[in-house]
Amino acid sequence: MIVIENVTKRYPGGDKDFYALAGVSLEIGENEFVAITGKSGSGKSTLLNMIGTLDRVSSGKITVDGKDISKFSGREIAAYRNKTVGFVFQSFYLEPSYTVYDNVELPLVLSGGTRARNRSKVELALSAVGLEHKMKERARNLSGGEQQRVAIARAIVNEPVYILADEPCGNLDTANSENIMRILASLHKMGRTVIIVTHDPEDALKAERIVTMSDGKIVSDVQNPQTEALGQAL
Ligand SMILES: Nc1ncnc2c1ncn2[C@@H]1O[C@H](COP(=O)(O)OP(=O)(O)O)[C@@H](O)[C@H]1O
Ligand SMILES: [Mg+2]
Repeated sequence: MIVIENVTKRYPGGDKDFYALAGVSLEIGENEFVAITGKSGSGKSTLLNMIGTLDRVSSGKITVDGKDISKFSGREIAAYRNKTVGFVFQSFYLEPSYTVYDNVELPLVLSGGTRARNRSKVELALSAVGLEHKMKERARNLSGGEQQRVAIARAIVNEPVYILADEPCGNLDTANSENIMRILASLHKMGRTVIIVTHDPEDALKAERIVTMSDGKIVSDVQNPQTEALGQAL
């Protein structure tokens, strides 16, 4: 469970300070599928980066599974980023010269796994995104959509509780975007908590809960009536 309490992010300005986050409170429970949406500059990435410990709050508090993440030691931050959360970014951030397999294995290597033991985990993650057959390909030879699927496999290989995706479809065409959203939805169905940042209302509508930001504040927080109807139909 993620509990965000009255968080601000302040940047010093000329006349007055600028608040990228102007007092945000939000709770995200286990196995939710949440879209954080809103216009460019509304503070979405800032908020997600804070949940991921990639950025620090100016005031307020974020607790994840009962722990205040601002109090983490360096070692705890590294473990948190490696095991508790899985990141997916707009620009994929793969190692282009590495194979698909080696890219996905990287978080396991960082957490001290042996190559033999890692193999089944990597294969499982790649099968979740339908790319086992590209295992030996270099990342740079894949299409954008495939690269993002590799990035998702890398994000889930350590079985994190939370998947944090910042504009994962931002560099993709419609067909690939739909595929990525389908994969994220299926990860949610398999029990992960998925938080996606997107400025695209179409993508936001794939989530179960839609949180809308404007000027560093949450202006609406609703269950998605479309997915509710879908749930009832099943
Ligand atoms: N290092 C920084 N210094 C000053 N302003 C920043 C910095 N980083 C982000 N901002 C500002 O904070 C606001 C929110 O940014 P961001 O969270 O990236 O928005 P979004 O992801 O919704 O597009 C923007 O106006 C952005 O210009
Ligand atoms: Mg952003």
